[in-house]
Amino acid sequence: MTDYTLLAKQIKSLAEDEPNYIPVLSNASALLYDNMEDLNWAGFYLMNKGSLMLGPFQGKVACIRIEIGKGVCGTAVAEDATQLVKDVHQFPGHIACDSASNSEIVVPIHSGGKIVGVLDIDSPSLARFDREDKVGLELFVRVLEEMTDFSGMNV
Ligand code: SME
Repeated sequence: MTDYTLLAKQIKSLAEDEPNYIPVLSNASALLYDNMEDLNWAGFYLMNKGSLMLGPFQGKVACIRIEIGKGVCGTAVAEDATQLVKDVHQFPGHIACDSASNSEIVVPIHSGGKIVGVLDIDSPSLARFDREDKVGLELFVRVLEEMTDFSGMNV
């Protein structure tokens, strides 16, 4: 099981050194990809000109833009709620960036009362993520929201 409390502490300490969203989210994707088992993608989509644009990530080349309400990421923004998807092939409108993905979790990220992006994590295994991962990743995102300077973003 992933030690989400430790990962939250690590990203807090990294963000204390430099809060700008580019290094913080780059290191956050590296931390998650390195420390969680059985992943094929971990990273961020950020709000840009009214849709989600690819941000810092680890994994294979991915889709660049996702409209709000589309796919798992766009649904997380439209509903302002974490999406825990046990089988992406059963999710209406799922966007397959990497055909290896079978399950996925997406957590919205807020700053100044608005959604500024999402954390997106994919696994090649079905039902890779459970309630514990949801709680742990929501904690990780709360630390990102608290520590990260998103002010340079073109939301
Ligand atoms: N599957 C996502 C698209 C992003 S990739 O997984 C990296 C979606 O349906 O929104």
